[in-house]
Amino acid sequence: MTDIAILIPKLQSALHFAGEQVRATVERYPGFYPMYTRGGKWKHEGEPWTHWCDGFFPGMMWLLHRRTGDAWFREQAERYTTPLAPRQHDREVHDLGFVFMSTYHHWYRLTRDPKLRDVMIQAGKTMGLRFKEQGKYLSSFVAPESCFIDIMMNVGIIFYAARETQDAALRRVGMEHCLTTRRHLVRGDGSTAHEGIFDLTTGEFLRESTHQGYRADSSWARGLTWSLYGFGTAYRYTRDRRFLETAEMNADFYIDNTPPHGVPPNDYDARSGRHQQPESSAAAIAASGLLDLAAFTPSRAKSRLYRDTAFQILDTLTGDAFLARSTPGWEGVLKRGIYHIEKGLGVDESVMWGEYFFVEALVKALDLLGA
Ligand code: GLY
Repeated sequence: MTDIAILIPKLQSALHFAGEQVRATVERYPGFYPMYTRGGKWKHEGEPWTHWCDGFFPGMMWLLHRRTGDAWFREQAERYTTPLAPRQHDREVHDLGFVFMSTYHHWYRLTRDPKLRDVMIQAGKTMGLRFKEQGKYLSSFVAPESCFIDIMMNVGIIFYAARETQDAALRRVGMEHCLTTRRHLVRGDGSTAHEGIFDLTTGEFLRESTHQGYRADSSWARGLTWSLYGFGTAYRYTRDRRFLETAEMNADFYIDNTPPHGVPPNDYDARSGRHQQPESSAAAIAASGLLDLAAFTPSRAKSRLYRDTAFQILDTLTGDAFLARSTPGWEGVLKRGIYHIEKGLGVDESVMWGEYFFVEALVKALDLLGA
């Protein structure tokens, strides 16, 4: 069990370090939206694969502003958030929840300016246009017949827009996507497939597949944590117990299959090779998602287990093996993340979503501990 008296100053100090790294990156590369490091440096010519990460850097600024009250973070957060507005109409990606919940949602909660809410509503409607009536899922950016587990992190903005506009048809789209994902991408043992392929004519589910995992039928760790966190968010918006049960199944798989320090390999099924490397961003996502589930679950025993697991993960991530503080010249906060092994993008590096969810988990944990 993690010693809370030792953990609190570790979390506070890691959050302070995160703020320093954000500030240094803004000063070094003004106006640049980082995605993943190469050799610890944010700016390089590596390809993005897809355009999904621009909300995370300003998202860290919104979180740091909320936590510290520092006006500089607010000023920069607005500066980096405002140019994202045109993406509310972006039909090329399935990631508008990532882009807008990490930015405009924080901004709106602070100011209650209806113009900010309108941006999120439009983003939710745009996401809804990805819905395939035949298979009843939101299609991924790679192809209309493809559904990613990652989309569970983006369905929240559909529920948000549906709630704010009382749009029952849009809410149905969100519900159907979650039910299809639960049925075909979440397995009986709580593990997840990265991708499902559907027959576009009949809507029939055809097979599992993957891009960033080890095999089509394996368990890519980040996908599992997108599901854990995403089904928790779906429960937050709908109060549908099936979604909480699914998130808990994912959480239980994570807890049963991850080494005791709390950081999973890139893929749980890899028995050798590159996919056995640790994936710190999945651990950060899990920590944040588990803190949500600790509040949602009606079971006191599970609540304690989820909270203690999140604390264990954060204890590990704030240690020298993962926190970049003692690595001279490293520009990220959290080392040892992985973006895409097969494409050789961001392997054993800092990754922007890992940075964001790490900071989010630190803030949630410190709030919970009253520190
Ligand atoms: N495209 C989302 C991810 O790499 O997890």
